[in-house]
Amino acid sequence: EAAEKGGFDTYMLKEIHEQPQALTNTLMGRLHDETGEVDLDIALDPACFERIQIVACGTAFYAGLVGEYLIEQLARVPVEVDVASEYRYRAPIVDEKTLVIVVSQSGETIDTLEALREAKKFGAKTLGVINAKGSSMTREVDDVLYIHAGPEIGVASTKAYTSMVGAMLLLALWLGRARGTLNAEKGAELLHGARELPRLVEEALSPERLANIERIAEKYKDARDYLFLGRGVNAPTAFEGALKLKEISYIHAEAYAAGEMKHGPIALIDENLPVVVVATKSFLLEKTVSNIQEVRARKGRVIALVSDGDTEASRHADDVIFVPQADEYVSPVVNVVALQLLSYYTATLLGKDVDKPRNLAKSVTVE
Ligand code: G6P
Repeated sequence: EAAEKGGFDTYMLKEIHEQPQALTNTLMGRLHDETGEVDLDIALDPACFERIQIVACGTAFYAGLVGEYLIEQLARVPVEVDVASEYRYRAPIVDEKTLVIVVSQSGETIDTLEALREAKKFGAKTLGVINAKGSSMTREVDDVLYIHAGPEIGVASTKAYTSMVGAMLLLALWLGRARGTLNAEKGAELLHGARELPRLVEEALSPERLANIERIAEKYKDARDYLFLGRGVNAPTAFEGALKLKEISYIHAEAYAAGEMKHGPIALIDENLPVVVVATKSFLLEKTVSNIQEVRARKGRVIALVSDGDTEASRHADDVIFVPQADEYVSPVVNVVALQLLSYYTATLLGKDVDKPRNLAKSVTVE
């Protein structure tokens, strides 16, 4: 088993470190610099549907939320995202003009599989964004966009998540180009941003950055609760960060879109509450900085995730996690890595078994 972990203490840490390679496998070969084209090798006609529904569970659901943001922004197609266990029982409004995208690492999650079957009854076009080759979902969808992350053993998903988000970016770029909503210039810029991702994630995993995150994990590991905030395309980064912390450290964590803080979670803030704020480069950074100030004014402890070179958000934080600068649209992939590490170190410092967290299964094939 030690050999399978490739010199790492756990599968989870190994898989965190495999992300640059996993992303290379997801993205490269599908992006063509010379032509600015994205080649997904799927039969789906990008003009044959009027709306998209993304259906998934757990971490894959959060990848779906990033997908919603990217597809709506870049391809201007209305997107809804649903957890599969809700979708399959809520008599969804779906027809032959709907593209239903199922997102799944295992391709076997029963709720997602049943939701797919439900959608097919109504004639929906279907696409799977899936990791496991030959899994049940891959056999039932019209088209598969494999994420090619490689086998994932750790129960808490890491590299499958970043590769799913990478695949969502590819899909949004492809749809935007095909449907004429994304001009060549912006397309080329984002294509460049996508190509940079493996390198940026590699940089996010440097020994100095890991040591800083471990120090912060040590400082706050005895907290009873955590709050995570993020906006826009990085709201799901906050959701996924909170999920990771809950899954492996058993610390209660909530996540909110930062602008919602004033409608409830602000009541929880006191000197015992660490608040992780995703405050990387964004057209809305100023608003996020105001949220940080609101937390500080109530004595909350702010851990800010900021872009390298930032002098604005970091000034107001108790602790700062610098991450490599990335185009906002691709930044969720880079940012989440820091949050995976924060959970990882918190859990290991608390002596938890990160690869096999209590009560959780890698793939849930019963309802
Ligand atoms: C389980 C796993 C999660 C995963 C979810 C969906 O709950 O513990 O890590 O995100 O299932 O799995 P899927 O294989 O469909 O992505």
